[in-house]
Amino acid sequence: PQPVVPTYPDLAGKRAFVTGAAVGIGRAIAEALTRQGVRVAIADLNREAAEEAAGSVGGGAIAIAVDVRKRASVETAFAEALEALGGCEIAVANAGVSTMNPALDLTDEEWDFNFDVNTRGVFLTNQIAARHFVKNGSGVIVNTASLAAKVGAPLLAHYSASKFAVLGWTQALARELAPKGIRVNAVCPGFVKTSMQAREVEWEATLRGMTAEGVLADYVAQTPLGRIETPEDVASVAVFLCSDGARFMTGQGINVTGGVYM
Ligand code: NAI
Repeated sequence: PQPVVPTYPDLAGKRAFVTGAAVGIGRAIAEALTRQGVRVAIADLNREAAEEAAGSVGGGAIAIAVDVRKRASVETAFAEALEALGGCEIAVANAGVSTMNPALDLTDEEWDFNFDVNTRGVFLTNQIAARHFVKNGSGVIVNTASLAAKVGAPLLAHYSASKFAVLGWTQALARELAPKGIRVNAVCPGFVKTSMQAREVEWEATLRGMTAEGVLADYVAQTPLGRIETPEDVASVAVFLCSDGARFMTGQGINVTGGVYM
């Protein structure tokens, strides 16, 4: 399907810091924000891919290298974005990773890797952006959680735990920051066609003794709206949450799953 393009005039001229935005869902969010007249800092571990994305997104988007697991890196990256864009009103903590393994085979390293990127990464990105927003008395934060933040996902127990934590953090932060004029929400995507999904489909096919096509057909069968989700399906909701259209929404984890989870 073609991307949906509603217009939110309040977004025009704003500046956004989006992590994990070189590819996939983050990139679609960067593109959708750019279409609203937002200047975007595409912050990603993969600097080369971020630069390619910034060039293709256009609209004055810039590329910034960041490792969301490290406080100093997020601080430097956010300061670079502030300097280059002249300010920042929107932070999207989207960078995330997954590995797939039965719970009883999980290693400490796998657990830590998922929590370092998915949970600590959101904590650091939100805290560092929010310290700036508090000074301005306004700002919006959107976190990319997951369907796996609402229902435990088999073979992804560690990932699920890291994403449930994101929603707990999102709710508590929303309560703390509401009096300061800052809204904090999350999107919870389902089975989205990205490089993460391609890796998961391969692992799942091996672990369940299925073909990749079989795994994908299974995802579609679980989806009432009957197709694989696109990054643009998620981006249009993330942009809405950034806009004044969502001005009375905070602390929400919005399911964008084609009805997989209701
Ligand atoms: P992806 O793997 O296609 O892209 C992730 C991006 O994050 C990459 O550009 C990667 O370089 C970057 N990244 C990874 N580690 C990083 C770090 N330490 N610091 C900075 N950047 C880093 O993944 P996708 O599918 O676009 O996922 C985006 C978000 O959506 C993640 O938080 C993921 O957990 C979440 N999600 C994805 C779903 C899916 O089906 N693809 C479903 C639900 C949630």
